[in-house]
Amino acid sequence: MDGAEGPMTAPATASVQRRLSVWLSAIIVTVAVVGGAWAFVAAFREAYALQDDVLRQVGAMFDPAHLPSPGNPADAPKVSDKEARVIVQVLPGPDGAVAPGTSAPPLALAPTLVDGMQTARAGKRDYRVWVRTLANGQRIAVAQETAVRNETARDSAIRTLLPFAVLVPILLLALAHVLRKMFAPIKRLAHEVDQRDERQLHAITPEAVPDEVHPFVVAINRLLARVQQSMDAQHRFVADAAHELRTPLSALSLQAERLGQAAMSPDARERLATLRQGIERSRGLLDQLLALARAQEATGVPAGTVSVQRVFRSVLEDLMPLADARRLDVGVTTETDARVHAAELDLFVVVRNLVDNAIRYTPEGGRIDLSVTAEARMVSIAVQDTGPGIPADERARVFDPFYRVLGNDATGSGLGLSIVSTVVRRLGGEVELGDAGGEPSGLRVTVRLPLV
Ligand SMILES: Nc1ncnc2c1ncn2[C@@H]1O[C@H](COP(=O)(O)OP(=O)(O)O)[C@@H](O)[C@H]1O
Ligand SMILES: [Mg+2]
Repeated sequence: MDGAEGPMTAPATASVQRRLSVWLSAIIVTVAVVGGAWAFVAAFREAYALQDDVLRQVGAMFDPAHLPSPGNPADAPKVSDKEARVIVQVLPGPDGAVAPGTSAPPLALAPTLVDGMQTARAGKRDYRVWVRTLANGQRIAVAQETAVRNETARDSAIRTLLPFAVLVPILLLALAHVLRKMFAPIKRLAHEVDQRDERQLHAITPEAVPDEVHPFVVAINRLLARVQQSMDAQHRFVADAAHELRTPLSALSLQAERLGQAAMSPDARERLATLRQGIERSRGLLDQLLALARAQEATGVPAGTVSVQRVFRSVLEDLMPLADARRLDVGVTTETDARVHAAELDLFVVVRNLVDNAIRYTPEGGRIDLSVTAEARMVSIAVQDTGPGIPADERARVFDPFYRVLGNDATGSGLGLSIVSTVVRRLGGEVELGDAGGEPSGLRVTVRLPLV
């Protein structure tokens, strides 16, 4: 089934889960980036405005009677960051002269500064400066270094980003988790349907999937029901056809028998014998066809159990004449017994087909061993012979209906192993073809069924 794998693995872009998670993640990240930038700018501006307010308030505290003291660094109040301190000074007059009674100002601010808030350069640094003219005409400047102010504003703005940095990854993880959870029922369902074999056509329970998928599941269920109906009809047709063909064949067989009682030449008698063999072969084929149709039609494992040794005995009773005719040593090699869940007829059909094959394909004088062993949870039933075996590359194909390995002259329908595998699979077991080992090495067929 090479071609079947292709369309089953959908391309990655078709995954709704992947697309949803990519799109939602992109949206979340975009919103977070835009929101973060917005919050950053707003916080930065606010901190900046607040610092301007501080300069204004400090400036408002001075009047002509209380001019700022000349900047003696030793007198300055202690601040945690020297750069961050607010400097207040009297501005020199338009001629550059310092008012009498005041010492040289700490900052070399230009005397041309106008009243109000502005950014000005003093020495090598930029300052934010608030200039105000006092009642006596003197002008004072309240200044703070811009680099420090920016840094402070940036710090407080960055703190507003912290929630974004923490919450966005959490949101993304939560999203991935929720999506995975939402799609889990669909994955589980696909797995369940994948595990089924071709006879498990019962409906899917739509409760297990999201509402959106419901109509799809209902449609699939309707399709499953139609497939089931058509398979039933097909099996019924085969069974009916085989059954219908048996009646005229029996009549034919009877006629041939009657004809055998009439007087005829030895030549005619020989031909009649061939004809009767042909009729018998056809009857055998029809019986096998009927058995296969029945095995395919039946469903479920019966509640009752059956003893494997008991089935061995009835098969041997049935086939002993055939084995004796070919001088084969047929026997059961294990004494223990095991019980399996199966109808007696089902297990009989399985073992009979395997022993029948062994008898047919093992050369005269060979040996056929039947055995049963109970393992941990399975019962192994093995039929082993000293025949030619089946080449490894033919082992998978011999289970196909009507398939026969070329090059043997035994008669058969090619249905025996199909019937065996159909019945065994329905009973929840498996069939394995292996080498018998020993000399000469023949075929070893092992049937494993669940232990009761
Ligand atoms: N015990 C065996 N030893 C050798 N070949 C076997 C044995 N059992 C089955 N085979 C091969 O597998 C083929 C399919 O078996 P089966 O389905 O029973 O059909 P049939 O026996 O009617 O030909 C047979 O034609 C035969 O070639
Ligand atoms: Mg057979």
